[in-house]
Amino acid sequence: MKKFVKIFALIVAVALMAALFVSCGVKSDLKQIEESGKLVMLTNAAFPPFEYLGADGAIEGVDVDIAQAIADELGVELEVVNMDFNGIVNALAAGKGNIAVAGMTILPDRLESVDFSIEYITSAQYMIVPVDCNDILTSADLQGKIVGVQEGTTGDLYASGEWDGDFGVAQVLRFNNAIEASTALANGKCDLVIVDEMPAKSIVEQNEGVLKLVDEPLTLEDYAIAMRKNSDIAAVVNAKLQEMIDNGTIEELILKHTSK
Ligand code: ARG
Repeated sequence: MKKFVKIFALIVAVALMAALFVSCGVKSDLKQIEESGKLVMLTNAAFPPFEYLGADGAIEGVDVDIAQAIADELGVELEVVNMDFNGIVNALAAGKGNIAVAGMTILPDRLESVDFSIEYITSAQYMIVPVDCNDILTSADLQGKIVGVQEGTTGDLYASGEWDGDFGVAQVLRFNNAIEASTALANGKCDLVIVDEMPAKSIVEQNEGVLKLVDEPLTLEDYAIAMRKNSDIAAVVNAKLQEMIDNGTIEELILKHTSK
């Protein structure tokens, strides 16, 4: 009799755990990917060379090529979903995609709702200013300035005083993406823009004679791929990234997408 009680208790415990597992929304990414035949990548495609709209309007970039390699490894199609950067972490946690590849910096806040892969790029925030501006050289010069940023990015955190302390910024103007922020800068709506290194260089190149880069990194950041907490896709993602780092593919992809 005692044995029956034990077995019954065990069955109840297992059933409860299974119910908890399902109700927490922990579902298998691999299973879903296999069933749908596609890997869904969330991104914000105004961040060259990592993700940008190509000549034909299709989303291209280093991150897209990385995700494509992961999709190839899984033997499925890649679907790229373009959305506001600020909504990506929540959308991923809510199951709207399997991976977020968006030049995304590993941050403690983000780690509360998603997991990150191994890092695949080291980056930094930089300032972009009008070509004729000569008084913005270091973070100390942010005092009293109007700063344009992409909403929800590390540049936003930096300008808002949530990274390295308060620099006495007069106003933070938050845009949907870095390209819009730079257009505002070119039109005199702000004094400078803070954005990640490679997009900053690309934006300056696109605005030759109008904008220039302040050659002084403000932060040090690592980009990684975000996934749902405890996703079973993590092993595949990390292995593919490690391979692409080790055999120089990531560097090649950066060259390929910056020389365009
Ligand atoms: N690295 C910065 C961050 O994680 C900016 C990323 C913006 N990415 C994009 N695809 N727009 O906050």
